[in-house]
Amino acid sequence: MPPTLLVSRRLPPVVEQRAAASYSARLNADDEPYSADRLLALAAGADGLLVCPGNTVDAALIGRLPASVKIVATYSVGFDHIDVKAATQRGVVVTNTPEVLTDATADTAILLMLAAARRAGEGERLLRAGQWDGWKPTQLLGTHISDMVIHYSDIRRLAPAQEQGAIYHADPDELLGHVDVLSLHMPGGADTARFLNAARLARLPKGAVVVNSARGTLVDDDALIAALKSGHIAAAGLDVYANEPNLHAGYRTLENVCLLPHLGSATVETRNAMGFRALDNLDAFFAGKAPPDRVV
Ligand code: DGY
Repeated sequence: MPPTLLVSRRLPPVVEQRAAASYSARLNADDEPYSADRLLALAAGADGLLVCPGNTVDAALIGRLPASVKIVATYSVGFDHIDVKAATQRGVVVTNTPEVLTDATADTAILLMLAAARRAGEGERLLRAGQWDGWKPTQLLGTHISDMVIHYSDIRRLAPAQEQGAIYHADPDELLGHVDVLSLHMPGGADTARFLNAARLARLPKGAVVVNSARGTLVDDDALIAALKSGHIAAAGLDVYANEPNLHAGYRTLENVCLLPHLGSATVETRNAMGFRALDNLDAFFAGKAPPDRVV
């Protein structure tokens, strides 16, 4: 008998086909957003779970998991929705899907940079509202983005071949004074919560652009909204939000913020690759091998 796998959301067809071929797969044909109770009820007797970022797998849920569940594979690189410590203590393996969505998410960061700096959202709204009265020399002027000098901060400095001339700052706070565009690429979770707070926003030059394609929890929303209103931050491009899908209502009323619905990895190729990566981890685990992307 193949292992029983509960899949929490509808996945791309080729991924579901592979899941159904290898497992006794409980697919979510209606793409119902399962509550914790519903997920637990459906997990009865399952050997593994394939979950998504919208599924909160916290210590309370892990404590109530059926004893049969031995692995939680998330269809995401981020695992801030999973209490890995609680899972490990219960002997449940957690895996994620690194690398395969990096390019698609980088594309989205560039998309947001351009959209925010060149006021694409405002322009689109103008047309849709039937309020465009023709080309004007002073209409919707934005900021030039090409020919950027890249500054970056990370835990470790990159090798020169990867760095390609980008300027490294060991201290992220020190970086802030040097950049006209700040793009966040950090994991979510308690350690990085509200990283971009009022004090750090104040360190950015007046007129800077902020982009977030990583996790909404990195941003103090009240502080960013205040900075967007005051003009200290000229524009923001956001793909992710704290408490998704309920983004801070303040963003909706601002013209100078471009809002996308967490679609950083949303290409056919990438979402297929994420599913295959999650299944590779499950296959390895159920074959008695170490899953390549085990989160510890
Ligand atoms: C992830 O994988 O963590 C992304 O947020 C999903 O696009």
